[in-house]
Amino acid sequence: MEEASKKRVFSGIQPTGGFTLGNYLGALKNWKNIQDEYECVYSVVDLHALTVRNDPATLRRQIREACAMLLALGIDPHKSILFVQSHVSAHAELSWLLSCYTQFGELSRMTQFKDKSQKHPDNINAGLFTYPVLMAADILLYDTDVVPVGADQKQHVELTRDVAIRFNGLYGDTFRVPEPLFTRVAARVMSLQDPAAKMSKSDPNENARIMLSDSSEAIVRKIKRAVTDSGSEVCRGEGKQGVENLMSIYGGVTGRSFEEIEEEFRGRGYGDFKAAVADAVVAELQPLQQEYQRILSDRGYLDGVLKEGSERASSIARKVLSRAQKRIGINIFR
Ligand code: TYM
Repeated sequence: MEEASKKRVFSGIQPTGGFTLGNYLGALKNWKNIQDEYECVYSVVDLHALTVRNDPATLRRQIREACAMLLALGIDPHKSILFVQSHVSAHAELSWLLSCYTQFGELSRMTQFKDKSQKHPDNINAGLFTYPVLMAADILLYDTDVVPVGADQKQHVELTRDVAIRFNGLYGDTFRVPEPLFTRVAARVMSLQDPAAKMSKSDPNENARIMLSDSSEAIVRKIKRAVTDSGSEVCRGEGKQGVENLMSIYGGVTGRSFEEIEEEFRGRGYGDFKAAVADAVVAELQPLQQEYQRILSDRGYLDGVLKEGSERASSIARKVLSRAQKRIGINIFR
């Protein structure tokens, strides 16, 4: 394995359906903040999005939009590598190799597979089942040390570690074994309408989620309508999951801890608190939305960034793929 001077980060996000505040606070804000500390590789994972049916023209547009949004929210192509997954064919190649070292039983235990197959009973395809293997390939191809993700991806990163350790055990040190990295207060942002469920772009109730592209009015309205409880105290505790979720959103945006938020809103009630949460979210997202429109309309710039990103990503990924192929014994011209 190559020793880089900085530790390497890899993470990915699916392009379909836009990004939610959950994506942002659970992962993307962290992606931006760690760019100086780590050597970061970020990918718009379009192959992962194929496990559900997409209209081709819409998918093409959404891949561009996702890349523009990542640039708008501060992923800096001078510091980090940004690329589209399908532009680097090593991902699909390593995924096949790793699938031969991943057990059916392990994949059957993945909660995301169980959830998604319940939601789409008419399309439980093999890709949905082997999805975590492709994710393992994404991560292992970059000799990744750290994977910044929301809490819902914990199980997938653990599987990646298990597969890497198993492979290394069979063939000697081949893959670096990565660690997940979660944000302090907003690793799992919940639905605004049902605090027992994750905030998700596929929730049929629009009021359950905030999208990064939502207007200020929509953000204020959704937060005002967010489910709380009949009490009035801004604190965590039994039966207060709705308030706790708003606290984690507020903390994720402002950088404040739960204790600091409790202190700030002591004796002030939910009305005041919700107004402050809405103000903070609007102030965070508004500049980002303007930048997004600017970048999306500059096609030459966007294409240039992605082309360079896929070349840089490819040159790292090829070496790791070839290392794994040699270890297995299929690369005969070495
Ligand atoms: P995806 O596209 O569903 O989500 C992207 C990132 O956003 C986080 N996230 C959340 N965090 C907190 N609260 C929420 N409600 C919330 N919803 C989403 C996710 O945890 C994720 O970090 N399989 C991955 C994409 C992927 C990947 C990878 C990630 C493919 N290959 C390699 C890391 C490394 C996924 O579907 O994320």
